[in-house]
Amino acid sequence: SQAASALQQVSKPSSYCEDKYAKVDWDNLGFGITPADYMYTMKCSEDGKFEQGQLAPYGYVELSPSAGGLYEGTKAYRTEGGRLLLFRLDQNAARMKMGADRLCMPCPSTYQFVDAVKQTALANKRWTPPPGKGTLYIRPLLMGSGPILGLAPAPEYTFLIYASPVGNYFKEGLKPLNLYVEDDFHRAARGGAGGVKSITNYAPVLKAMARAKSRGFSDVLYLDSVNKKYLEEVSSCNIFLVKGNIISTPATNGTILQGVTRGSIIEIARENGYQVEERAVPVDELMDADEVFCTGTAVGVAPVGAITHQNRRVEYKVKAESVSQELYSILEGIKTGVIEDKKGWILEL
Ligand code: COI
Repeated sequence: SQAASALQQVSKPSSYCEDKYAKVDWDNLGFGITPADYMYTMKCSEDGKFEQGQLAPYGYVELSPSAGGLYEGTKAYRTEGGRLLLFRLDQNAARMKMGADRLCMPCPSTYQFVDAVKQTALANKRWTPPPGKGTLYIRPLLMGSGPILGLAPAPEYTFLIYASPVGNYFKEGLKPLNLYVEDDFHRAARGGAGGVKSITNYAPVLKAMARAKSRGFSDVLYLDSVNKKYLEEVSSCNIFLVKGNIISTPATNGTILQGVTRGSIIEIARENGYQVEERAVPVDELMDADEVFCTGTAVGVAPVGAITHQNRRVEYKVKAESVSQELYSILEGIKTGVIEDKKGWILEL
């Protein structure tokens, strides 16, 4: 066939060394990296098509700073008075450390992390939206950047931070979310690294998310992979249920992310008279919850308007005076400097 004959044709590199052997100690080869002369690279654009690739001498590749890795996310807020406010950076630093330990990566100290975020936020201050228009999303990330062929920690790591002004995470804006409960795909497994904020927890959800979005859903809610019965989290955020005065959210047992917004909402809810239960939450409880909402740094606090699981669909009346709205107003008030920060959560630049 045409495809098979195309595979028989080999295009010769324009220049290569005619020596029969490279200078290598052939009797003592282990599984370490001994880079051969050339590497081949071929890039694909957003339409998924790979252009003609090319050979080039083995060497460092140019990588977008916003390519994935083990990463964090935090936001800077511009106040009416023109100051920048950062929120609970110690929590992001601690979570990166936890993830780095799990993935055998070295990690900057809390001081180095916080100082680097402060410098990045200040240097990019002019990119911070005016109050009420959005935030400056700041992404600290850690990646293996040194050469390695076998399976072992990298010989070099790079910590980098970049920033971007952002508005609402969901294209629906502030409209209540329409979630799909996934039975075929799972996000993470017990004993794995689902609690780590690494790209390895985001790449596996893309297929389920794309499928759900193509059917008109906002995002996917995952179930635990052992019992296929308990709520885990949404691709991009944590999940909460409200029933009367009780707020329930899946406990963090290694398979879900310890969201900074999740933790802050739990604390604010308890201080405001709610009973918060962190536990295994069966999917059936969605059916008679008064209210469901999602939390995340990117997402904020987002009310859920409908959830579909198998052939059941439940709709929630999203009222202006909802529990999620009450908690969100307090959290957002603290983050934007409108409510006094009595907890030491805010860093003012
Ligand atoms: C965040 O909430 O900051 C995240 O990193 C989630 C991601 C889906 C954007």
